[in-house]
Amino acid sequence: MQVEREIREPLGRLGVLLPGMGAVSTTFIAGVELINRGLADPVGSLTQLGTVRLGKRTEDRAPKIRDFVPLQDVGEMVFGGWDAIPDNAYEAAGVAGVLEKEHLDAARKQLERVEPWPAVFDARYVHKLNGAHLKSYGSLRGAAELVREDIRAFKRDHGLDRAVMVNCASTEAYLQPQEAHFTPESFERGLDDSDPAISPAMIYAYAAIMEDVPYANGAPSLAVDVPALTSLAAERGVPVAGKDFKTGQTMMKTILAPGLKARMLGVEGWFSANILGNRDGEVLDDPESLKSKEVSKLSVLEHILQPQLYPELYSDISHVVKINYYPPRGDAKEGWDNIDIFGWLGYPMQIKIDFLARDSILAAPIVLDLALFLDLARRAGMGGIQEWLSFYFKSPMTLPELYPEHDLFIQLMKLKNTLRTIKGEEVIHHTGLDYYE
Ligand SMILES: NC(=O)c1ccc[n+]([C@@H]2O[C@H](COP(=O)([O-])OP(=O)(O)OC[C@H]3O[C@@H](n4cnc5c(N)ncnc54)[C@H](O)[C@@H]3O)[C@@H](O)[C@H]2O)c1
Repeated sequence: MQVEREIREPLGRLGVLLPGMGAVSTTFIAGVELINRGLADPVGSLTQLGTVRLGKRTEDRAPKIRDFVPLQDVGEMVFGGWDAIPDNAYEAAGVAGVLEKEHLDAARKQLERVEPWPAVFDARYVHKLNGAHLKSYGSLRGAAELVREDIRAFKRDHGLDRAVMVNCASTEAYLQPQEAHFTPESFERGLDDSDPAISPAMIYAYAAIMEDVPYANGAPSLAVDVPALTSLAAERGVPVAGKDFKTGQTMMKTILAPGLKARMLGVEGWFSANILGNRDGEVLDDPESLKSKEVSKLSVLEHILQPQLYPELYSDISHVVKINYYPPRGDAKEGWDNIDIFGWLGYPMQIKIDFLARDSILAAPIVLDLALFLDLARRAGMGGIQEWLSFYFKSPMTLPELYPEHDLFIQLMKLKNTLRTIKGEEVIHHTGLDYYE
């Protein structure tokens, strides 16, 4: 029998802190307002629309997730954020060009209220952006203190007990873990010495952990996924998760690849191309930021297909990912996949996907779910890496001795079984033998 965890009730409002107030953040904030006013449904949000089956199939118990676990009410959230550009969320949403005028007008008041605080920004990490709305600080320690002060002031001004942070800032240049990232002590030293290995994304993550604010990284940038910060989060009991929202092409990959593997069909090659024209695409037009994104996108297939277990099927896959900046498309990106597979007796076949997606429309419900689930984790006393939130990420975080789970359906099972477990319900293993014995 499972024992139900003690979960504090979500009293009062929840602060949602967003480093980076561009296309994803503003589409999320506007969407929450439209949903609260009954003008839209929370399509794409598991916390709002998803259900969880409990007990046996004969029991007919499948409550909505939000009725099963005590989640913050979507109408009771307050937003704050940082950006290197001074536009308020309404202006930034206009620049992002994701939402129609009618939606922007309806959410205008709420969006205008969200004015970003100056950013911790370093042009070495994001080359293609002219940051003009920046904090001034002497050392990186000073930068972290300023972000912590913003968090405290935000909570004070809005009378909040709880806040969460979801990083939606531009993708930073690719970075290999190094000395300053290894332990909390080396990270602290790095802050004092302004070690260039500490990126702005890490400063926000550090500030969140120190302020007891659960943190998720929606960008592919190296941030909370360094040992120094995962250890700090575990020590302080702060939930953390990442990284890189799993939205368009990678979501499709993690749906399709498990299916091909389930049927023991071989894969010879997987060629993925993308065109996108939003600011994210412009930042990714720089080779160093692009590398962060490509590394994140490439890891998926290897982990799902497990060539070490199935050398006949997956040992020699050509996996190529191309991302091209093409301004006319704006946020409405297009992703093509050509998959060369083989079947019985090695006969070749092909699958083609042409996904006419909308990046921020796919990402916004993920921001909502992460905010609500991270807050739940905190109230349930779950600190450190939240592997059960792998469902939302291209590069899920795990303990170093574990490999990440990329299969979307295993990830969903992991998430729902975690919810069942914290509520003291039996996990569901799907054998079904008990019905027949
Ligand atoms: N939209 C998706 O489907 C999707 C999927 C996976 C990951 N992501 C990631 O989410 C992030 C946001 O995407 P977006 O489309 O909203 O991009 P965007 O360019 O519209 O917004 C990013 C914002 O971050 C700001 N910024 C840059 N550096 C900053 C800093 N140091 N501090 C504060 N703000 C800073 C920029 O000024 C910009 O306004 C990107 O890293 C992107 O790769 C998006």
